Order: sequence, then structure tokens, then C-alpha cells
Amino acid sequence: MTISDGSRLTDSLLGNGRTATVGEDLVGLPMPKRPDTLYDQSQRTRVRREGGPRFPFPIPNGWFVVAQAHEIEPGRTKNLYYFGKDLVLFRGTDGTPYLFDAYCPHLGANLGVGGKVVDGSLQCPFHGWRFEGSTGSCVEVPYDDVDHIPKTASARTYPVVERNHMIWAWHHLERAEPTYEVPEVPEFHDPDWLPIEVREFEIATCCQDMAENNVDTPHFLYVHGQPSIPEEDFVIEGHYKRTTGMDGNFVREGHGLGLGVLRVKGYTTFLSSTTPIDTEHVWVRWVFTAPRALGEDTTKQAADGFTAGVSQDIPIWENKIFKDPPVLRPSEKGITEHRRWCQQFYSWPADTSQR
Ligand code: FES
Ligand SMILES: [Fe+2]
Repeated sequence: MTISDGSRLTDSLLGNGRTATVGEDLVGLPMPKRPDTLYDQSQRTRVRREGGPRFPFPIPNGWFVVAQAHEIEPGRTKNLYYFGKDLVLFRGTDGTPYLFDAYCPHLGANLGVGGKVVDGSLQCPFHGWRFEGSTGSCVEVPYDDVDHIPKTASARTYPVVERNHMIWAWHHLERAEPTYEVPEVPEFHDPDWLPIEVREFEIATCCQDMAENNVDTPHFLYVHGQPSIPEEDFVIEGHYKRTTGMDGNFVREGHGLGLGVLRVKGYTTFLSSTTPIDTEHVWVRWVFTAPRALGEDTTKQAADGFTAGVSQDIPIWENKIFKDPPVLRPSEKGITEHRRWCQQFYSWPADTSQR
């Protein structure tokens, strides 16, 4: 098929649900497109009342975006909340980013509220203890020596990399080292491709349930109004999963549960990042680019198209439960395979306080 044929692309990839107006009853099949609801959660339909945890998993292990690179300057701190934790992100004066748990191991001050970056370390605002960015170790107690400081006087650090205009942190419940890499997306630094366009929004779901959408092929008809069930091939290699569809013109590469790179040949490349806020909420960042030759507006068009598409999924995701075990037809075995693949991204520490 010709990807540059806009109408066919729209139908076969982005579906054709109409755009609903605010306040209208939510009538699906297909779901209306409500892009405004991405950024204004007060306009979303949320009816779920039953209590208790929705999902039977802890926060997954993996690389997750915690900030756009431009959001933090050298020598500055930024308070964050991801992985069910208060965190502090800071850049050393040389620009290297570091991520700590926010609370000082001494007496619990929030290091991101008045804390000061000193070279590659962070000084606590409460009693001036200083913690090395790369290790979290206490390297100075201004009113005492550090010779007899126990190892517990360490801030918890997370491995951090800056890549694809984003800052990524490795989260692992048992604090294991990274088991895979964040891939470079070459288009983001290619002069033949347009500057990136980022869209970000919160969804009340978890990484695994959101990712299940990619292998749930029948929903493309009923939620997105696509003309037929897409035929896709899946390849799984450890933490990596590749989906190929549209005669090879659509490729989605997943690296763990927080990171996907999608390429629609001749139209757009985008990075899809999903960061757990806690076990029931995620923060999504989609980073788009497009070939310059298609015109300056193409990145925005692609971003608008895909975000309108996900606005059709959100009412389903935010009001569903995780059915386990589900009732599946043989043609839906991709869902079983996906769930099996996801298992590798969880730890089950005996110490439940770590979950
Ligand atoms: S609480 Fe941080 S130095 Fe005392
Ligand atoms: Fe969907």
C-alpha cells in the first residue's frame, strides 16, 4: 500500500471514529475521538467504584522516561513522583543527570526542597550532608567527619541515561543492574527529519494492560473503527518484541514495558514511553518526528492522528479490570503470549515493603 495516501493511512492505521463534543454521552463502536480529554482529565468518563488493587502486578522493572532533557538545567533539581516514590532528579554542574529517592538518609528531609547541587553531588538542605550523584554515598558531613558514617547513609540512586531528548531511569524492585539498553532513535538527530514534537498525558492504567492493546487485534475494529482486523507478525527475543503489519510498512519495536519505537514507513517515527507513576497510573510521552520532505506540518499531523486514536482507548482502559484468566478465542493467542512475555519484567521481593 502507499503510505503517503492519507485517506488509506487514516482508515487502516488510525481508524475513523468521529470526534465527539464535550458533555455528549459516550457511545462507542467505534469510540468517539476526544483528544481534549488527554490533557484535561476532568472531561474523562470514569465510573469505576470497586476498591482494591486493579492489577495483580508490582511496578515493573525496566527503563522509563522521567523527564524531557530540556526540563532540567545543569546545577538544578526537580522533584518527581514515579514508581510510587518521591524522587529528586538533578544535573551536576557538568550536565550529568542523577536520580535519587527524595528523602535524606540522615533525618528524612526532601533533598529536592532546598537541596543544592555541588559539582556532581547533592547537599541536603537540613544539615548539609552531601551525597555523591553516581553512588549516592555520603561524602561530607560538614560538622563531623565521614570516616564512621555507615553504608546506610546513602541516598538510593537509579541508573540514568540521557538519550533521544529524554532522561531515562532504570527501575528495578530488587535494585538489580540494567539488563538491556535504551536504543538510540537515529531519526531524532537526522537533519532530514523534522524537530521532535512531544505529547504527554496521564492514564489510569498500568504498563502491561496498556501494552496489551497492541496485540489485541479485534479491538481495532470496535474501538478504533478500522475496516478490518490488522494482520501482524510478532517476534520475541528476550526483553525485545517486534510487531510488523501493513505489509511491512508498520513496525513497532518494544524494549521492556516502558519503551516502544514505532515506524510507519514514509510517514512518521515515534517513540512511545510509558512510565509507572504508581501501580495504577502511568505517564505517557510520545515523541514524534517525520521526514522533512513531507512538509513542516507532518510531525504535528502524525501526533494529532495518533493521540486522537489513543483517546478512543482511554475510556476502555480507565474503566476496565484486568481479567485473569481471560476468556479468549484461539485467534487471540497473541494476548496469552504477550502476558507470558511480560512476566520477565516483574520481581516479587519477599519484603513486601519494597513492592
Ligand atoms: S536530613 Fe539531610 S542532612 Fe539531615
Ligand atoms: Fe487501541
